[in-house]
Amino acid sequence: MTNLVGQALARVDGRDKVCGRAPYAAEVEVAGMVHAVLLTSTIAGGRIEQIDTRAAQAEPGVLAVITARNAMPLPDKGRAAIQPPTGRARSLLQDDSVSYNGEPIAIVVADTLERAAAAARLLRVRYAEDPQAVVAFERAKASPYDPGQILGKPSDTRRGNIAEGMREAVQVHEAVYTTPIEHHHPMEPHATIAQWDAAGERLTVHDATQAISGSRETLAKTFGIAPDHVVVLCPFVGGGFGCKGSSWSHVALAAMAARHVGRPVKLVLDRTQMFGPVGHRPHTEQTLIVGAGADGRFTALHHGVVSETSVMEDWTEPSALVSRMLYACANQSTTHRLARMNIAVPTFTRAPGEASGSFALECAVDELAARLGIDPLDLRLRNHADKDPESGLPFSSKSLRECYRVGAERFGWQRRPLQAGTLRDGPWRVGMGMATATYPTNRSAAEARVRMMADGTALVQCGSQDLGTGTLTVMAQVAADALGMPLSRVRFELGDSRMPKAPVSGGSQTAASVSPAVQAACMAMRAKLVDLARTDPQSSLRGRPADELALADGWVRPAGAESGGESVNALIGRLQGAPLEASAQSAPGDEKKRFSMHAFGAVFAEVRVDEALGIVRVPRIVGVYGVGNRLNEKTAHSQLMGGIVWGVGMALFEETWRDARNGRYVNASLAEYHVPVNADIGGIDVQFVPEDDPHVNPLGVKGIGEIGITGVAAAVANAVYHATGRRVRDLPITLDKLI
Ligand code: MOS
Repeated sequence: MTNLVGQALARVDGRDKVCGRAPYAAEVEVAGMVHAVLLTSTIAGGRIEQIDTRAAQAEPGVLAVITARNAMPLPDKGRAAIQPPTGRARSLLQDDSVSYNGEPIAIVVADTLERAAAAARLLRVRYAEDPQAVVAFERAKASPYDPGQILGKPSDTRRGNIAEGMREAVQVHEAVYTTPIEHHHPMEPHATIAQWDAAGERLTVHDATQAISGSRETLAKTFGIAPDHVVVLCPFVGGGFGCKGSSWSHVALAAMAARHVGRPVKLVLDRTQMFGPVGHRPHTEQTLIVGAGADGRFTALHHGVVSETSVMEDWTEPSALVSRMLYACANQSTTHRLARMNIAVPTFTRAPGEASGSFALECAVDELAARLGIDPLDLRLRNHADKDPESGLPFSSKSLRECYRVGAERFGWQRRPLQAGTLRDGPWRVGMGMATATYPTNRSAAEARVRMMADGTALVQCGSQDLGTGTLTVMAQVAADALGMPLSRVRFELGDSRMPKAPVSGGSQTAASVSPAVQAACMAMRAKLVDLARTDPQSSLRGRPADELALADGWVRPAGAESGGESVNALIGRLQGAPLEASAQSAPGDEKKRFSMHAFGAVFAEVRVDEALGIVRVPRIVGVYGVGNRLNEKTAHSQLMGGIVWGVGMALFEETWRDARNGRYVNASLAEYHVPVNADIGGIDVQFVPEDDPHVNPLGVKGIGEIGITGVAAAVANAVYHATGRRVRDLPITLDKLI
């Protein structure tokens, strides 16, 4: 085999992307296409008494105004597909109820986008408001409820005896930490183009999605049609981060509009609507109790989470999962409770649970370290979990100690004074903080197919998605290695639901799920090529036993030989166009029953806090990770770096404000919802420690899409404390909290 896997290759689609040749969902030109604009509610709860559509309908170019009055009735009132992760509770104009501010209530379709938008402004809506609608978290949390489970896991866990553990402790730290509402803001907004066939039976959509298979299934169930009557296309995604992991209202609404007007319809959410019916990271309130003995060993650990959810659906931000497995502690409990509100349905946001939960846990550990007078890194080492404390299983691999060691060395942690508030540089107070990063290692079944083309190139296909992470590139590398062919002769394609099935690109599982399927399909093709070389009557290798032949550099040769044999080109050429195909499925076995599988890392941050103004700067971050093998050193580095940048955003900037009177988001724009810009980011040093994990999957890769954000907000908050002696437990750490 050649050795492309692991190399720091540039993206195969990089040139197309920078030249504008990579078509994103909204950029596809479909003949006869018209444009839809979504209108959303302006009250938090109640009923629509009337929508006066007359003025809008009279506008030039307007083809339809669709409301609950005239929308096509859907099977089961549109509730046939509400299974997360991909199918969710949606608003499909099946009744006149309003459950939150910003909920879809009408669609206007016109021949141009401008005309649709102008007409949409002419709709007059009369509501009957429900005075009982709950939009204040403080009120909702007064009657919290137990969701019972979180995506198949128990909402609560308990081991040992917390009260006993507290009695054993010499120091107990208890505090409440909060994380705000955060919204995903991929560069590419949600967008769908929907088109029905003439009979109105088959649906094709160009959809910006993390799950073409999930989008297909959701649409099929929503309309009550066979899954193979739905085709979902998505060759490129301009960022996902969880919001595109589910098929939200606008996707089915675009299809409903297309059926209504009998034309292909494009529906693109505007930036403000990205703060709407497409999910968000819910506000959390997290209570941490951590006790330790004089030796620093944790004797008790409690992590209780209350997060907001929608009246439409239970969705839990699983923030306490991280506390179940990160540290060795015999006495432990975790709880998740929901506060039901008249708000949009929350959803997966990069490292759902681990991002918000690691902020609370890793700040609490830092606070306890300060009380104990123990170095925070040392305290973590003293509580290192050698096996999974929740399941008792061994870790398939765990390089956390090495991450701590390498990170501390690169960062210069030994220069950190134990006492907070002692470092200064002119007007700046300087601080150093650290935290642990972790994310589960997931894998699902996937299938792939290889076809040898007449020109001797290989076409490899899998119905996966590339969110911008580099899937197209790394899978081409995996395929080329497995086929023994140069990268230039291998084409990898994804993003078409007619291709072999792959799972949702969520839970950081794409590389771990798709690469084994691609590899297996290519190995099957390899065997077919070798077989061809020994059975083709014109082959010089005819009759040779298969185990004496090898495939490398596009040639089948006697094993060990550097020349001679048959080129793949010649073998394919002699087939005279007859197809040569191989496919394979690859699925996890029972390894999750035998091992606990997680990626780990250590994040170190230096901050500067302006003493008078409270401004926080983050001049440098060191992140060191043990994530198994990397398929591509360059794209892997980018994933971690991007995660860290978002972590800085989470620490210092990101926060959506909801008006406590009417549930409307008041900073629903990128001018007022702040994400880091280049000037906000200092040096980011991403390192990987070698980690060989034969258990996670055949290529030994752990997901890297999400771990990068985890731990960062805590490392920054801990550094701010170290700089100033001020502990901020409510994200984001804005200057008003420091002056
Ligand atoms: Mo990720 S939040 O699981 O798309």
